[in-house]
This record gives sequence, structure tokens and C-alpha cells, in this order.
Amino acid sequence: MDLFEYQARDVFEKHGVPVLAGAVATTPEEARAAAETIGAKSGGVTVVKAQVKTGGRGKAGGVKVAKSTDEAEQLAGQILGMDIKGHTVHQVMIAQGAQIAEEYYFSILLDRTNRTYLAMCSKEGGMDIEQLAVERPEALARIAVDPNVGIDAAKAQEIVDAAGFDAETGAKIAPVLETLWKVYRDEDATLVEVNPLVKDNDGNIVALDGKVTLDENAEFRHEDHAALEDKAAADPLEAKAKEKGLNYVKLDGEVGIIGNGAGLVMSTLDVVAYAGEAHGVKPANFLDIGGGANAQVMADGLDVILGDEQVRSVFVNVFGGITACDEVANGIKGALEILGDHATKPLVVRLDGNNVDAGRAILNELNHPLVTQVDTMDGAAAKAAELAASK
Ligand SMILES: Nc1ncnc2c1ncn2[C@@H]1O[C@H](COP(=O)(O)OP(=O)(O)O)[C@@H](O)[C@H]1O
Ligand SMILES: [Mg+2]
Repeated sequence: MDLFEYQARDVFEKHGVPVLAGAVATTPEEARAAAETIGAKSGGVTVVKAQVKTGGRGKAGGVKVAKSTDEAEQLAGQILGMDIKGHTVHQVMIAQGAQIAEEYYFSILLDRTNRTYLAMCSKEGGMDIEQLAVERPEALARIAVDPNVGIDAAKAQEIVDAAGFDAETGAKIAPVLETLWKVYRDEDATLVEVNPLVKDNDGNIVALDGKVTLDENAEFRHEDHAALEDKAAADPLEAKAKEKGLNYVKLDGEVGIIGNGAGLVMSTLDVVAYAGEAHGVKPANFLDIGGGANAQVMADGLDVILGDEQVRSVFVNVFGGITACDEVANGIKGALEILGDHATKPLVVRLDGNNVDAGRAILNELNHPLVTQVDTMDGAAAKAAELAASK
């Protein structure tokens, strides 16, 4: 999960990373009120910053300096509603204005290729770091960070030396890097990026723009992370699935898909995409119901998929392993009972594996008007695609 800049600022502050005052506003009036208090700390100067989860806001005109509360209000009016790379601005942050002497770059991220963490640091931070990385890679120091050690004083010194800082500046930056490591470690982040990390006219080091990505797999140990989620941006069906503990991703097609096991569901998507070509239809979603195929899980899954107006047929593809096919068949039967009139679209069911005969017999006996059984995966995909196209 990516955080907004103002959320990253709050997280930084909590861990003791030096940041400037900032407050979020959703209307020009709120921006004015925020500029009143925050501007008082920086001679009336504030910066109005678009809060969108994409970089390059400055270049797009989403970061503007305001010298008065009037100007902050007026700039907020301009920036709110702006479109930055396909993201509409619904919030701005009113930040204290910094007197910038120099802009640096620092990030910590997961280096999957080398199975470790990587710290990157440059004396030349600011808005064009991607360009710098391509054109003059030597100006961007890259230092591997051992996850078991992290960024201690010695590692921080190694990083600032590699980036080429003079001793005095390096000594000021190093402790900030140690604190940023604590953010990365203690929040279970996969990215902490500060661009720019600045030295102000008084020689203080401040994180002026922060980008933080949190590892959703670690959510269970961070009760406070749920509050950081951008609920307004979440797809309503994905939100509903998440509430029910289902592994669901909405796609843009017409054939709903339910399977057990991520690998089987992925290959089901491929098979349906292929079979769908002849009919002009595509998979509508990814939904892995995992090991539990009882009636309630199946009903929850079907309920989410049938809530997608684009869906015209559903392919239930289950390979019985630990959960045997008869249990799955009973799950489908129970789900249809739970859903009642809500189940309105044809289901193509392919069962195979453990106790397949018993499973198929249960569905044959049920003889439900919406359910068609097909024995092979390819055959079932073709049938589901055909039904989606004919509706
Ligand atoms: N609080 C601030 N005070 C003064 N200048 C700022 C402030 N915040 C940002 N800036 C300036 O605006 C530039 C772009 O802002 P930044 O927050 O990095 O947005 P982005 O990276 O999305 O363009 C920074 O490099 C910095 O020069
Ligand atoms: Mg930036």
C-alpha cells in the first residue's frame, strides 16, 4: 500500500525523522485556515502540495509556494481538482515553507534480485532523480543493506561517503538515515524514499517529500495501518471481497472466475482469455477461494462476482485436493441456497481430483437450471465464454 505524502510525513514524525509542519485540506477555506497556523512558523510562507499517489507533482504544477494566507487559499483552489497523470487531486497538504540550500536524495527499498535491501543516496536530489539514475548513474550511490543489521552508524557513514558528502554534511545526514531505516524496519515498509532530503539555510537536514510503501502482508502486526488505506479509491467489489477475507482482483471482462489455489486460478484466466477470443469476451476477475470451499465461502465468492454488472457467466474451476470435490459440490449447492434469487447468471462448473465422482453426482442430482457441468478445463472455459457471449 502506497501512502500519500502527508501520511508519510506523519509516519516520519512519529519515528523522529526531521520534517516540517503540514496539514491536509480538502477545500480552499480549510487550506486558508491551515496556512494561518502553519505559515506562522515560517514567516507567513507555506507550500501548497497536491496529494496524489504519483511523482512529478512539482513539474505538473501541483506544488506551489504561497506568501500569504490569501495566496494559499487561491492556490489550493487551483490545485484541488487538478489532474496529475490521471490522478485527480482531492486533497492538498499545506506545508511549512523551507529555505532550501541544497536538495539530496535518499531511499531504502527491497532489492528482490539480490535478495537484500538497497539504500540509494545522491547529493543531487530534487525533481529529476530518474533522469539522473539513467544519465549519470555514478552520481547515485547504491549500497546493499543487510536486513539483519540494517542501517547502523557504520552503514550510514558508508552511505554518505559513497554519495560523496563532505564530512560536516555527512555527519548531519547519517543520523537521519539511521532513523529512516527504523521507519522502514518498524513499519514493515518495502520502500521509504525522501526526495528531496534538504539542507536548509540554517544547516538543518529536513525530509521535504516522502514516499512510503507498506507491505500489506505484514498488516496483521500493524493495527494502525488499516486507517491509512484510501477507502475512497478502492474498488467497491474489491473492498467487499477484502471484508470477507477473499483473494479477489477485479478485471475488465465478462466471465467471472472462481478457483481454489492461486496457480489454478491464474491458468484459468489464461484458458478463459484464449477461449474468449472467439466470442469477444474476457475474464472478469481473479478469485482464489483457497482451501476452504464450504457453502459460505462459495456464497461469498459468488456474491462478489455476481455483484459485478459486467459479468455474464461464471466459471467455477476446482481441483479437489485436501478439500474433496464432494465438499465443493455441497458448497456450491449451499451457496445457491444462500443466494436464492441473487444467483441470476449461469455457472459452469468443472470438478476434478479427490472424490470427483461423488462431487459430480451431487451436482447432477441437484439439477439446478443455472449450473452446467463440464469435465475438462478447456471445455468448461469454452462453455463459459459461449454463455457470456450469448447473454
Ligand atoms: N515545504 C517546502 N518548502 C519549500 N520548497 C518545497 C517544499 N516542498 C517541496 N518543495 C520544492 O518543490 C519541489 C517538488 O516537491 P516534492 O514534494 O518533491 O514533489 P514531487 O516530487 O512530486 O515533484 C521540491 O524539490 C522542492 O524544491
Ligand atoms: Mg519529490
